[in-house]
Amino acid sequence: MIRVLLVCLGNICRSPTAETVFRSKIDKAGLSNSVDIVSCGTAGYHIGESPDSRSQAAAKGRGYDMSALRGRQIQNDDFECFDFILAMDESNLLELKQRCPKQYITKLGLFLTYAGSYQETEVPDPYYGGQQGFSHVLDLVEDASEGLVEVIKARL
Ligand code: 4NP
Repeated sequence: MIRVLLVCLGNICRSPTAETVFRSKIDKAGLSNSVDIVSCGTAGYHIGESPDSRSQAAAKGRGYDMSALRGRQIQNDDFECFDFILAMDESNLLELKQRCPKQYITKLGLFLTYAGSYQETEVPDPYYGGQQGFSHVLDLVEDASEGLVEVIKARL
């Protein structure tokens, strides 16, 4: 089993979108029994909340259902439990680096490292912007999810 943790700030926009899209691509690749996917936020503002309605609407437009997810904050034992701990942006990666026990630091990285088409390194926070930002989050996470599926296939 390979365990993947996807991390943003609030766990109501970017990382639950990434969780949903990546899970869909893992399912389509027939790997759902071999990969465990969870998302969380570095902050605790939205613990227990449903994903942002704008994220849900954008995802629904591409056939993804995010409605069952609930906000979760990073916890100390996540660094031990997960194999890949991938942040949506540099600021959340820095936060993870500060909390991560030294022996697990190589598990940390940026999710967009796995993107093949987009050159961006960070998934921009869409929270204070318009609907276009949510659609761009989907473009980026679909690209990175496809790349990460290939990396995981090679590891299994
Ligand atoms: P996320 O977006 O990190 O992609 O879930 C945000 C959600 C909430 C807030 C900021 C970013 N907030 O400040 O409440």
